[in-house]
Amino acid sequence: MITLDSIRKPVAAELEAYAAFVERQFTAEGELLSEMLTHALTARGKGIRPLLVLLSAALNAPVKGASTGRRACLAAMLVEMIHVASLIHDDVIDEADTRRGRPSVNAIWQSHRAVLLGDYVLSRNLAIGLQSGQFDLVTHICGAMATLCEGEVLQAECVGKREMTRRSYLDIIYKKTACLLGVSASAGALAVGATRDKVALMRRFGEAVGMAFQIQDDLLDFRPDARTGKPAGNDLREGKITLPLLAVLERSDETRRTELLAALGRCRDDEASVEYLREAVEREGGVAFAAEVMRGYVSRAVEMLAEYEPSDCRKALADLCAYIAERDC
Ligand code: FPP
Ligand code: MG
Repeated sequence: MITLDSIRKPVAAELEAYAAFVERQFTAEGELLSEMLTHALTARGKGIRPLLVLLSAALNAPVKGASTGRRACLAAMLVEMIHVASLIHDDVIDEADTRRGRPSVNAIWQSHRAVLLGDYVLSRNLAIGLQSGQFDLVTHICGAMATLCEGEVLQAECVGKREMTRRSYLDIIYKKTACLLGVSASAGALAVGATRDKVALMRRFGEAVGMAFQIQDDLLDFRPDARTGKPAGNDLREGKITLPLLAVLERSDETRRTELLAALGRCRDDEASVEYLREAVEREGGVAFAAEVMRGYVSRAVEMLAEYEPSDCRKALADLCAYIAERDC
């Protein structure tokens, strides 16, 4: 079985340098802010974004095996902190009580403080980036922040109207997830001075990985045995129509569609409706369909790696693709 630990191996030293860099740079003034920041930074996620930056930097480094250095560390921090801030804000928007199996920042300190913490993380991130003088990296990475917001607004609009099309779904997951993963992979290449073509290739690679990652995330919401640190069925409770349900809606006649959407409308307060939809989506092929679409993105990502000579880093990136398709957490 592929594990994240084995994928991390080729850049183990770089990951350590990155962790030390974040610890040095990300400190806060005042007791409350420090406590909140520590809570947000110690809920260890998978660290997919920094891993993607560092593997891409190592893959594209002009001298094979050379340390990828400070620019790659900075890029890894910039993408990860945008992600951290976006999740803090996301839990406020979704009124979520848990994140990664622990109470969310808003659940402990209320929404107004959580919003401020997210703003603080973003502000510190930008300040550190600008002070470093690496303006190409800051420009490349920070452009994704607006895209993330666009994705969230689009998603909220669709939840409000209880309406979704395939086009809107793909647009939302590109904006809320795939864009930042594309930026992560391409920033790694940019950090080590790769050619424009290789930076663009890495961007497409990261975007395909990101599309697969979000579809798998949406699939895990339909699996009660998943270990995501969030209760299964959360998307349904939040009124979100993701690909598994969308696929079933697309195949249903008008009467069935009305029935399914009415059940979705009840999910916020009625667990029986959550269970009913979860089973219906599984039984009517929505889960299998979404899994097939997800695997399509994974295959495309892996094919792109053929542009590189075989190496530990290329293998680790291919393994990362496989891990994303198999993961249950
Ligand atoms: C998680 O989605 C949320 C995101 C991937 C993006 C959230 C983006 C914002 C709130 C916009 C703000 C942006 C910045 C840069 C601060 P989810 O709710 O589907 O997943 P979950 O189950 O992990 O909550
Ligand atoms: Mg959420």
